[in-house]
Parts: sequence; structure tokens; C-alpha cells
Amino acid sequence: SVLKCLQARYTVNLFYTNAGCSLVALNPFQPISCLYSPELMREYHVALRPQDLKPHIFAVAEQTYRNVQSQIDPVNQSIIVSGESGAGKTWTSRCLMKFYASVAASVLCPKGNETVERIEKRVLDSNPVMEAFGNACTLRNNNSSRFGKYIQLQLDRFHHLSSASIQTFLLEKTRVAYQAPNERNFHIFYQITKGATAEERLEWNLPEGADYRWLPNSERNLDEDCFAVTRDAMFHLGIDRSTQNNIFKVLSGLLHLGNVQFSHPVDESQPCEVEDKTKDFVKTAGDLLKIPVEELLESLRIRMITAGKQQQVFKKPCSRAECETRRDCLAKVIYAKLFEWLVLVINESIYADPSVWTSFIGLLDVYGFEAFPENNLEQLCINYANEKLQQHFVAHYLKAQQEEYAAEGLQWSFINYQDNQNCLDLIEGNPLSIFSLLNEECRLNRSSNTDLFQTRIEKALSNNQCLSRNKFSKKPNFIISHYAGKVCYQLAAMVEKNKDPIPPELVYVLQNSKDSLLQKLFPVTERNQNNIKTQNRAAVVTVVSKFKGSLEHLMQILNSTTPHYIRCIKPNADCKAMTFKREEVLSQLQACGIVEAITISAAGFPVR
Ligand SMILES: Nc1ncnc2c1ncn2[C@@H]1O[C@H](COP(=O)(O)OP(=O)(O)O)[C@@H](O)[C@H]1O
Ligand SMILES: [Mg+2]
Repeated sequence: SVLKCLQARYTVNLFYTNAGCSLVALNPFQPISCLYSPELMREYHVALRPQDLKPHIFAVAEQTYRNVQSQIDPVNQSIIVSGESGAGKTWTSRCLMKFYASVAASVLCPKGNETVERIEKRVLDSNPVMEAFGNACTLRNNNSSRFGKYIQLQLDRFHHLSSASIQTFLLEKTRVAYQAPNERNFHIFYQITKGATAEERLEWNLPEGADYRWLPNSERNLDEDCFAVTRDAMFHLGIDRSTQNNIFKVLSGLLHLGNVQFSHPVDESQPCEVEDKTKDFVKTAGDLLKIPVEELLESLRIRMITAGKQQQVFKKPCSRAECETRRDCLAKVIYAKLFEWLVLVINESIYADPSVWTSFIGLLDVYGFEAFPENNLEQLCINYANEKLQQHFVAHYLKAQQEEYAAEGLQWSFINYQDNQNCLDLIEGNPLSIFSLLNEECRLNRSSNTDLFQTRIEKALSNNQCLSRNKFSKKPNFIISHYAGKVCYQLAAMVEKNKDPIPPELVYVLQNSKDSLLQKLFPVTERNQNNIKTQNRAAVVTVVSKFKGSLEHLMQILNSTTPHYIRCIKPNADCKAMTFKREEVLSQLQACGIVEAITISAAGFPVR
């Protein structure tokens, strides 16, 4: 009946529905006039009881705002926007930010600085910048966010927006150097190749119509390809034109780097050759990144090895495959650092001293549960984050409600809700879990044998019911029974992905670039100055431990706030308007815990 109700509402253009403490948001996949107008924002803002108006994200937003004003503990609020890719999370977060920018507008103009805009504008301007650099066209969403985001809107004691901070998670940096068939690279690359002026084309070496391997499907024109919007937003965030110019030049350098191809050397003791027809690209890449071509080539083709008692350094030519991995790695590490730096700059521009603000509203926009035919470390991390959030939801809503009935002595038959602690133990628990075994494998620093690793996982974690294996597959794998369904993860390359190694020669060459942006991104630290040897030994902080750390930090913040949930649903996989696929909606309702939440609400005492 939940499904029926949602479908009936969808056909008459009602996209929002309350379900227990969550708001279900169906993606209309078409612009709906007046659904997000300033007039409507006002209507919800001034309403005596906004919850009596039609269900809407603005009702949630306003309620959240009033909670802050009421000063009842916990004063701080969070809005958790979840759903699968293309369901409307980013759209929703953007609308929420617009709502707060309008109702909680700051009274005073900050610092009287002309070039720096008001805080609301800067907070809103962070969206196009982050999306240009962090979003891409995928099979499931033309504007898919390839990172998770938590933004804290900070309010002063008059409940005006005084500042904000953004935390991002796990940018999919592999996309810079690899795009799945029919997908695209990050929007910004298309923006610069399509939107550069004639003068810039010359400077960045981007002639019209040139072909780049890392720029597939560029004939597809998207709304997101608008360069001017990104530039203006960057400018308002305090990134001046010359720094912007520097950024785009480096990005163009990456595109040229992507065209460099290696061929097998005639003699194994020699480094790989650069294919003749791609020699110009190496040169241009070197020019744009301000790295001498010989140094660039050396870092891509030659590995330093220290051996023997005297710790002598030997030079060893890399195989063709290794050269390619290094080329890709160079691009990924530059892009990831650039993204990190952008987030930092944005944060500086919207930052205020904590003494200025007294409370906050947090907006969480993270990737939903993922299950593809092939899954690896990325999906493991994403699904782990979703398990964590699901547990948070269960704890805060289901448990709280049941305990409340018990505390009031009300007759109540406990519904068996599925607690996912077991699954979380399997992924991140101590001392033995998938994460701990992955990290162990990285620490041992031996060439990993995936078959042995599969056996090791099975032996160590056999008593956890959430673990199984696809025995029909020849490839080493494991299956985790997540709250939202089973997912089979491939073990091939997983350990290497977790290590995410950056060859020290690449760091060295970047540190010695003459480009001022690259110098900022790769500062020379005392420890690694001219010393490739010690870098080899630097402790590896693995991808999963980093991710786990940042997620735990986030959960701590969430746990200290009053949560609100917006569950975004994608009515059909083809992103078509007015199309409601029942099976697809149903599985999403189950995956986000809506069905359970409603059962509990209905079985209990929904009216108080
Ligand atoms: N409320 C809405 N009204 C109109 N279109 C929407 C709405 N929400 C989402 N869309 C459309 O769906 C697309 C995907 O939404 P997005 O927020 O990017 O998904 P997600 O962040 O969940 O992956 C958007 O680019 C937009 O075209
Ligand atoms: Mg998104």
C-alpha cells in the first residue's frame, strides 16, 4: 500500500510524501514550475505549522530551522539525504541550501570586501565548483557526484547564516584516467575544451576539435558543460583569474599526458619507447606542467631500487604496463590533490571562527547503496558507509520509538527489526574483519596472491553469517549480505587499490615542477627532500583506514544532532519523466528502511 500510495501521488504530480520520520522524495525528472520558488519558501517559512502544509523538503527544512531556534537539546540538526545514483540527492541538497540561504540570510555584509560576496552566495557558489570538478556523466545520472559531501551550515545566535564548512569523502579519482564505456570524465575537462576563448586555447594548447583519449563522448552536450558558471563561481569564492588560468593549464596538461603511449623496448635493459605519434603530447604535457620533458619521461619509465648492504640505488626500466600505470597515477594524484585544495579554498572562503556561530544544520549528500556486476574496493567503501548510516537510522528511529513505548509502559509487541551490527563487524570490526585483513595484506608488502587471500578471509571470518562466496565463479571473490541485499566483491586488485601506492619518483618530479600551482599542491617537506629512499618506507595509510576514520568522525557529529531523513527515490532507471516502475521503487523502499519504519509507526501510536 505504500507503493500504491506513492504511485497514485506521483501520477498527480505530488512528489513528496511523509513516511514516519522520513520524507520520501520521488524524482520527477522534469522541471516542475513553482515547486522551489521563493514564494513557496516563504510560505513554509511563515506558516504557523509547516508540517500541516503539503509534504515538501521545505517543510523538513523549516522544521529543522525551528528546532535550532527552540534551543531544545540537541540543538544542532542534520538532514541526511540518501538514495541511489540519480535519485535526486544533490538536487535536494542544493534546494535545501537555497532555502537556508534565503530564510537565514545574514544581516551584515562581511568584511566590507567588494570582491568577496555575501556568505549565502559563497555557500551556493560552492555547488557549481564542486560539481564541475567532482561530478561526471555516468550511465545512471548525467550529473553524478563522484564524491560524498557533508556541509555544515553554521548559524549565529540570531539564527543567521554566519559561515559553513564542507567535508568530502572518497573522490573517484580513477575516472581521470579511465572512463567506463559510454561514461565521461569529470565535467571540468569538457568545460575547458568547449568553453575556452581563442586566446586561452593557444595558451593551454587546446586547439578546437583535438582528440583526447581521456575525453570520451565529448560530442554529447550537457547543461553541465557551462564553463562560464564555474569560472564566475570560482571567482566569487576568491579564486582569481590567474589562479584559475593556472588550474586549467594543469588540467590541459593532464589531457595531453593521457595521449602519451608507450611501446615495448627493443632491449629489456632499455626504457620503453614513447610511440612516435605521441611524442608531441609528452612535450606539451611537460610544458603545461612545467616539468622538463626528460625528467617527466624518466619518472614515468624508470624505477629507483635500493638494495644491498650499502643501500645502493639502482635504476630499473619499467615495463610498458608499468609505464602506463605510472602515467595514470600521475594524473590521478594531481587531480586528487587539486580537488582537495579546491575544497580547502572553498572552506577558507566560507569559514568563520567557531566563536561566531552557536549552532549548525548539517546536510549529508552521500552515494547510495551500490551493487554492480563487478564490485571492488570503491563499492565496499560506499556500501560500508550506507551500513553505518542505516545503523544510525535504525538506532535513532526504530530503537528510540520502541524504547519510548517500553518506558511509558505501553503494551507493545516488538517488531523484529534487522540490526546490521553483524554486517558492520564483518566489514570493520576488531580484531578480524575484511578491513583489518586488507590492511594486514598491505602491511606485509608481499606480492598478493588473491586465491590465498580469499582462503584467509574465509577462514578468519567463517563464523559471520553475513559472509559467503560465489562458488561458481572462477575469480576470487566474497559476498557480503548487506541490509539492502547481497553484493559480490572481486578480490582482484583490491589489495593494491587499498594501498593506493604513489611511486616516489612521481612525487619527486611534481615537487620539482616550476608551476606555482603544482608547487602548492606538492610542497617539499623536510622528510622527503631529495630523498627517494626514505619515501619508500613511509608508513602506508590505506584507503580503508582513511575512509573509516573520516566516516567515524562524521558519525560522531551526526550522533550529536537531531537527525532528519530525506529518502530520494528514482521512479525509473531511464531518468524518464512520468514513468513509475513499481519493482524498482519497491526495492529502493526496502533498501532505505522505509517499509520497516512505516510498519513500526503504524503498529504503534502514530498520533500523540
Ligand atoms: N526535484 C527535482 N525536480 C526536477 N528534476 C530533478 C529533481 N531531482 C532530480 N532531478 C533530475 O534528476 C537528475 C539527477 O539528480 P541528482 O540530484 O544529481 O541525483 P543524485 O545526486 O541522487 O545522484 C538531476 O540532474 C535532475 O535532472
Ligand atoms: Mg549526486
